[in-house]
Amino acid sequence: MSKVLITGGAGYVGSHTYLSLIDAGYEPIIVDNFSNSKEKVLQSLSKITKEKVNFKEGDICDYHFLNSVIKKNSISSVMHFAALKSVEDSINNPLLYYKNNVEGLINLLKTMNDNGCNKLIFSSSACVYGISSDVPVKENSNKDFVNPYGHTKIICEDIIKNISLNSELNFINLRYFNPIGCHESEEIGEDPKGKISNLMPCVADTAIGNQPFVKIFGNNYDTRDGTGVRDFIHIMDIAEGHLAALDIIKKEKVNCAINLGTGKGISVLEVINAYQKVSEKKIRYEFFPERKGDIGEIYADVTLAKKKLKWQARRDIIDMCQSSWAWKKRNPYGY
Ligand code: NAD
Ligand code: WQD
Repeated sequence: MSKVLITGGAGYVGSHTYLSLIDAGYEPIIVDNFSNSKEKVLQSLSKITKEKVNFKEGDICDYHFLNSVIKKNSISSVMHFAALKSVEDSINNPLLYYKNNVEGLINLLKTMNDNGCNKLIFSSSACVYGISSDVPVKENSNKDFVNPYGHTKIICEDIIKNISLNSELNFINLRYFNPIGCHESEEIGEDPKGKISNLMPCVADTAIGNQPFVKIFGNNYDTRDGTGVRDFIHIMDIAEGHLAALDIIKKEKVNCAINLGTGKGISVLEVINAYQKVSEKKIRYEFFPERKGDIGEIYADVTLAKKKLKWQARRDIIDMCQSSWAWKKRNPYGY
């Protein structure tokens, strides 16, 4: 069995990817400091897999902690999810984001290098494309940022690429678009802490009756219905994309960024309509001014993912809404 370190594995994307790794016969080891997740996730993972989770609590910015985990377990591959991810929080606390996300990566790269571990899959984001990209957006499009969170992703991608030029590091920077939904067990799912700002949790909260309506930010974009268009992708497609990436970097040098999206744009109104259909609930909405820094339309060019990873998203927006709704009904007030 092959051991894989998952930093931030108690979080949304990491915990779902953990399950795909177990299914595929890998031996994942999670490290997390629970700064944006709950210990309960580990119990749920254990319940689903019927196996004890190999978990170490700690901060990836702590060299000695990370070094001991990598050394003791002879880790050769890492999936690096651990980061802070709130756009709004990053605007209010930029140094916290630079410190956690950039220092965390530097520390990880140092411990990997010190232990001869050279395979890295890094959680990047569509936000590295900034606000001026043509759609569908290709991996070689210009990078730009509109908030400190997005800047940390660009900095991290650049550090990884530069380090790989003079070392054995073999990496893939996976740029996720908009992951939503949950695992089919409905035992784990999206459970944002603090103020909810992403669309899907707001739609789910409205459907369940926790909030009266969805605030739609902008109805005058140059899109088919005037609302924002994004590449929403099922979380299990994202998880499977990681598996495909791991399989490839174990065999060959890749060293590039790859989009993980469906290749299809879906508007905010289309998401709300799909959710209404699935939940059989009336979902009220009201239009508000555009959110600062928002782009009208972005979705992925997925040619490279198909070619290099032999992977493509399999689930559609109805699947995504169904799984989000199942999870919400089970956890109406959070996990
Ligand atoms: P999440 O907040 O649910 O998970 C991140 C996990 O990392 C959390 O469990 C948190 O406690 C942990 N963590 C953070 N800093 C840490 C530290 N210093 N030491 C140890 N653990 C730490 O976020 P997510 O949605 O699962 O995102 C995972 C990764 O994917 C992040 O890097 C995020 O930036 C990136 N990403 C997410 C999305 C998305 O929409 N969810 C989109 C694009 C990229
Ligand atoms: C989607 C659409 C909003 C909430 C963010 C981060 C990005 C990535 C994914 C981590 C937009 C509209 C939203 C609401 C709305 N995360 N909207 N009402 O902005 O594409 O991406 O999450 O890397 O970095 O920026 O996702 O879900 O916030 O917004 O109308 O209450 O929904 O304006 O058009 P976004 P989102």
